[in-house]
Amino acid sequence: MGKLIVKNGRVLDPANRIDSVQTLEIENGVVLGFASKDATADSSAGILDASGCLVCPGFIDIHTHLREPGREDKETILSGTRAAAAGGFTTVCPIPNTNPVIDSQTGLKFILSRAETDACVNVFPYAAVTKGQAGEEMVEMGDLVYYGARGFTDDGRPIMNAEIMRRALEYSAMFNVPILDHCEDSHLAEGGVMHEGRVSNRLGLKGIPGIAESVQVARDVELAEFTGGHIHIMHVSKRESLEPIRRAKARGVKVTCEVTPHHLTLTDDALLDFNTAAKVNPPLGSEDDREALIEALLDGTIDCIATDHAPHTDIEKDLPITEAPFGMIGLETAFALLYTRLVIPGIIPLPLLIEKLTSAPARVIHLEPRGMLSAGAPADLTIVDLFEEFTVEESMFQSKSRNSPLIGVPLQGRVRATIVGGKVVHSRFPKGSVTLS
Ligand code: DOR
Repeated sequence: MGKLIVKNGRVLDPANRIDSVQTLEIENGVVLGFASKDATADSSAGILDASGCLVCPGFIDIHTHLREPGREDKETILSGTRAAAAGGFTTVCPIPNTNPVIDSQTGLKFILSRAETDACVNVFPYAAVTKGQAGEEMVEMGDLVYYGARGFTDDGRPIMNAEIMRRALEYSAMFNVPILDHCEDSHLAEGGVMHEGRVSNRLGLKGIPGIAESVQVARDVELAEFTGGHIHIMHVSKRESLEPIRRAKARGVKVTCEVTPHHLTLTDDALLDFNTAAKVNPPLGSEDDREALIEALLDGTIDCIATDHAPHTDIEKDLPITEAPFGMIGLETAFALLYTRLVIPGIIPLPLLIEKLTSAPARVIHLEPRGMLSAGAPADLTIVDLFEEFTVEESMFQSKSRNSPLIGVPLQGRVRATIVGGKVVHSRFPKGSVTLS
């Protein structure tokens, strides 16, 4: 692989505290460093003119449902990683709630070999915590880490048995990988369709109370403290979950957490017209929850942003709201949604948003030096036009699914190009404007 020069972009690399117009040199798939003024005179190099654009480390999504194997009608490793690239994500971590569940060497090897042939971005998979995600018998953690599992999760389902969670934290600590938990007390959440509150009352739909999440969060941080293991709280969504995390962090407990773009920007009002595209688990909360999440993102209680991209077919999402599955797609709208709703109005600064999409998730599952543009790091880059305005349309999605509540919504800030290991895997630059050597 030759040399690529990304010239004259606004390079924003929060981990290295860089925010200035620079020309970046890439060779053999890794970042060489900032180039001298005459670097572009090198006739053997490919040149990408990023003038007027933001150039940042590639986004890293540590929570992505790719649905392969088993539900290739919803998404595949091929379509899901194309969606990732279109959204500026250079790394995704598929969740093992596939069919069959990824709970064995064979399953993990399948994901990794399919990624090798089909994926256009990096794929770092997790394995399930329990066999078949049934919550009863633990998987062979050592074996699965050896074969490439970056963490363990039964996401989509909670781990109700505290003894299993204790053992999972003890074992995973030996291999220095996290347990990523979908925190939900299944008894408290039983039969719930949306967040329990004003809107669920008005619609006459059974709600899931905020404490269904927070009691599990409180249990998990206690178990992490007791065992010394690393617990990662997935898609934290309610105000009452944040205090136990904040307090545990202050005590030095190994707890990290993520928030989704949808929980940061939407509320349960999105379900007022029974819109199944807004039915997610954990459910969209109240405006008060949303404000608490933003506060926690700003004060560092929330470590990173993850999409929980959860594709579903139209056939399933067209069912009545009580029957439709939970989940929305998010890879292709994440950046623009957050930029439009949180950065442009001055609610969060752009460098913080980029950090929470790059070096921060890399730190949670130990992917550094990905997530930063240090010399020698893999050349994973995202180039964004912060000024481009567009309306989300069904036809723009690379994902096989369309279950987004943002269709028809105007947004600003669009990914122009995505580079993985020095290779341009997605580009909206006019044809011919990227000179490749
Ligand atoms: O909304 C969700 N969809 N939440 C989950 O935890 C699982 C996911 C899915 O797999 O569809």
